[in-house]
Formats: sequence, C-alpha cells, structure tokens
Amino acid sequence: MTPASPRPAPPRDFGQTGLQVSALGFGAMHLNDERTSDAEAGALLNAVLDLGVTLIDTARSYGLSEARIGRHLAHRRQEFLLSTKLGYGVDGVPDWTHDCIVQGVERALRLMRTDVIDIAHLHSCPLETLQRGDVVRALDDCRRAGKIRVAAYSGENAELDLALADPVFGAVQTSVSVCDQANVPDRLDRARARGVGVIAKRPLAGAIWRHAQRPDDFAEGQYWDRWRALDLEALRQDLAPDMAPDEMALRFVAWLPGVSSVIAGSRRLENVQRNLAAVARGPLPAPLQQALLARFVPHAAQWHGVI
Ligand SMILES: NC(=O)c1ccc[n+]([C@@H]2O[C@H](COP(=O)([O-])OP(=O)(O)OC[C@H]3O[C@@H](n4cnc5c(N)ncnc54)[C@H](OP(=O)(O)O)[C@@H]3O)[C@@H](O)[C@H]2O)c1
Repeated sequence: MTPASPRPAPPRDFGQTGLQVSALGFGAMHLNDERTSDAEAGALLNAVLDLGVTLIDTARSYGLSEARIGRHLAHRRQEFLLSTKLGYGVDGVPDWTHDCIVQGVERALRLMRTDVIDIAHLHSCPLETLQRGDVVRALDDCRRAGKIRVAAYSGENAELDLALADPVFGAVQTSVSVCDQANVPDRLDRARARGVGVIAKRPLAGAIWRHAQRPDDFAEGQYWDRWRALDLEALRQDLAPDMAPDEMALRFVAWLPGVSSVIAGSRRLENVQRNLAAVARGPLPAPLQQALLARFVPHAAQWHGVI
C-alpha cells in the first residue's frame, strides 16, 4: 500500500466459513475483453491487491477475466480469496450436469493457475436444476475433495431462497444496491442467522446516474429506470448534497447487516481507490440510510432482484 492509499475498512468474517473478506471486493467482470489491454488488466489487478482488497470475483462467462487473474496474480495467490462461478461452458459436456461442475472446477483451477478455488458459485443455476440435486452434490463433492473451499450460489429470488435453505451452500452472491433491495432485509437476515457469507454484486447499480440515455444492458436499463422512479438524485441533494452518488450508493450496501463484502466492478484504479475510501467511511448517516430504504418499499412487490 502506498502512503497516499486510503486505509481499507477492517476485514470481516465471511459468514461462518472461517474465511475473512475485505469489505470492498473487486468485481473483475469488466476485465473480460480487449477494451482493457492485458498489460492494463495485470497492472490493475496487482494494484487492487496492493490497496488491501482481498476478494477477487470472476466467472466462466467473463471472457478473458479468469485467464488474466491466473496470469497476473498466481504469484500472489496467498494474498486474496478467489471467487468464481460455473455450471456451463465446458467443451463437450452438457451445461448444468454433474460432469460440467466437476470438469468446470478443474478447468477453472488450470486457467487460474491455482490448486484451490476459495468460493465457487453455481452461476444463476435454474430452479429445477437446484431442485434436481445432482449439480449441488457435484459442487459439494468438489468441496470435500479440497478443490474448492466454499460451495456458493449466485442468483436471486426463488432460487436464492432455495439456496439459503440448503446447508451445502456456505455463501451466496446476490444483487444489492439502492436500486435493488429485494433481499433487504429478509434474505440478508436469513443468511446472517444461518452463518452464510453474502457477496453483494452490482453494488453501485452500474453507476447508472452517469448516463444521460437509458443503457442497453438489461440490468443497467432497469436500474436506470428505478433510479429515476425513486428520484434518488433529488434525495441525495436534499440529504447529502456534499456526498457523491457513488459514495452514497456504496456505503448504503456495504454496511447493511448481513452483507460480507461488496464487489464493485471497475476498469479504473482511481474508482477502486474512491470505492475503498467510501466503504471505509462507515455506514451512511442514519436519516439517509433510512430514506433510501423507505424509497424502495412501495416498489418492493414489483421490483424483483435483477440477476
Ligand atoms: N453473479 C452474477 O450473475 C453477477 C452479475 C453481475 C455482476 N456480478 C459481479 O459483480 C461485480 C460488479 O457488478 P457490475 O460491475 O455490473 O456493477 P457495479 O459494480 O454496480 O457497477 C460497475 C460500474 O460502475 C462504475 N464505477 C465503479 N466505481 C465507480 C465510482 N467510484 N464512480 C463512478 N462509477 C464507478 C464502473 O465503471 P468504471 O470501469 O469506469 O469504473 C462500472 O461501469 C462484477 O464485476 C461481477 O464480479 C455478478
């Protein structure tokens, strides 16, 4: 860490997994393609670790991301928890089968140049697959074999409810933001009661306040609509005019009871530094936090978690 670096918030227990995570994790989804060169990706990943971020999240579907983590961070593997997602995309093997999980874990280990994945999620696994049981058992078998440390589920809504009730899963990854409060507080409370670690994805709601036009992306488009319907910019100006929207959004999520870590995604080191400093400032002032929660309540029945 350089002397000018912001001091991170203290690490947190990752549910009852025995692991600890940094309050700010790094979502490596945007290192998926050549918009970030390989050299830039390597520099960013290493700088993220230098800042004290100790959770890196990726997935089979994030293009170049997994290979870049392997290439650029294998030599620092002891310094961070590696989180990935699988269930699909293994050559010659049908998606969402026992073999796809077992071979998917082997594939991820090879690509990321490691002998263990700390947190391995079933990535938006369909409800029927979860109910069938063989895929969940395959993930648990990988855990018993020492290939993964924590079996986890990534997703929303009814599937997440099922995962939260299944003792195989030691952790979940799910959307939580000012625009996406379907898990607040009930599912977060359930996770906490069961000792399940919670990784909050999309914690900035894609920072959609930056966009004058509705983004095409299915999640960011919905968040853009919701940000406007909730009139959150006016709320910010009323209650916290000196606080930037990214800080408001991130502190809202990072200090919600039950959230272990927020994995903000970025291609830019200066934003990772901003995010680290924001989370370290602690919970939002109570009136602002309460107002952000209250704004969502009238929409809660219609606005489901965005996958
Ligand atoms: N499990 C799943 O199905 C799933 C789905 C989606 C995401 N995820 C995980 O969650 C992570 C985060 O999701 P996400 O990246 O979609 O959403 P996000 O973290 O809510 O928002 C990321 C966007 O915010 C911008 N940003 C970051 N810090 C900022 C700051 N301080 N000020 C202004 N803008 C800022 C980034 O742009 P810059 O590059 O310009 O900083 C990026 O475009 C992903 O990387 C991935 O690991 C998982």
